[in-house]
Amino acid sequence: MLPQLDQLKSEALAALENLSDETSLENFRVAYLGKKGSLTALSAGMRDVPPDQKKEVGAKLNEVREAITSGLTARQLALQSAKDAAAVQGIDVTLPGRPGFGTGSIHPLTTIRDLAVRTLRRMGFVLADGPEIETEWHCFDALNTPADHPARNESDTFYLADGRLLRTHTSSVQIRTMETVKQLPVRIIAPGAAYRRDEIDATHLSVFNQLEGLFVSENVSLGDLKGTLEFFFREIFGPQTVVRFRPHFFPFTEPSFEIDVKLEAKGKESRWIEIAGCGMVDPAVFAAVSKTRGDNLFDPEKVTGFAFGLGLDRLAMILHGITDIRHLIENDVRFLGQFA
Ligand code: PHE
Repeated sequence: MLPQLDQLKSEALAALENLSDETSLENFRVAYLGKKGSLTALSAGMRDVPPDQKKEVGAKLNEVREAITSGLTARQLALQSAKDAAAVQGIDVTLPGRPGFGTGSIHPLTTIRDLAVRTLRRMGFVLADGPEIETEWHCFDALNTPADHPARNESDTFYLADGRLLRTHTSSVQIRTMETVKQLPVRIIAPGAAYRRDEIDATHLSVFNQLEGLFVSENVSLGDLKGTLEFFFREIFGPQTVVRFRPHFFPFTEPSFEIDVKLEAKGKESRWIEIAGCGMVDPAVFAAVSKTRGDNLFDPEKVTGFAFGLGLDRLAMILHGITDIRHLIENDVRFLGQFA
């Protein structure tokens, strides 16, 4: 039986060399190793082998099966890699991939809002929120803005049929917060959208973004307001930043100021840019809040506070040298990609 096995082995290995597709390899496997295959048939002959030869023949059988099996596997692998190589023929697999989509990036307005919020949180302010569809009370009356004030004109403000309106500033969140807090001090910031019937141009949109701030306690002074905001603007624009407080009027603060930041551009004359409104909370506002609350937590004789409202779009424009506010809402990826 030994010579037969040797012959089968060399015959099988020779046959393998000529096989070049999956079907013939499978046929080969069946022909030699399958249930009715020739090696299987020879193994059955073990029965008739005299006992003293069984060991030798058995070892031979194993050797031949192993040789044929590994020969087959090697052939299958060689075939597969030839197929793979043919599939990528002419393709430089070391080239970088072609991205289907560009990498996303954070919108400059989001970045500046987060930076502003982070900076003010370090000073102890916490986030507050209010609706964009507001009542006249929260947007105007409680903020000491009487019915005949020009801001309440239909040509300036978007009114809904039920008398509510799209808030014209985030100052409404001052009122909402003071109406609901349980104790002093109040130290909140509220970023969000505000709406006005503005003619749209390079510096005006009918929807823009503000960040409101309010600090109410006992003995809050104008010095606190100034220190807080000067620190804030230096954090945002850098330590050299020059800020000026220009006397102004807001119905809900007294005294009131507009804040300008001095912009130095290389080769250009420096100019002042108005960036925020602020002031000491008018006692009339505390009185209005007290009326809704029905208690004296905000007793106008006892508490003082300051408030401010920043233009976040302006902040982003100054910081990034954006000359047209409309870029911020057009979602042109050529513009947005610059901030990636
Ligand atoms: N609400 C004012 C505006 O929209 C800004 C402001 C906020 C002024 C808080 C004073 C205090 O212009």
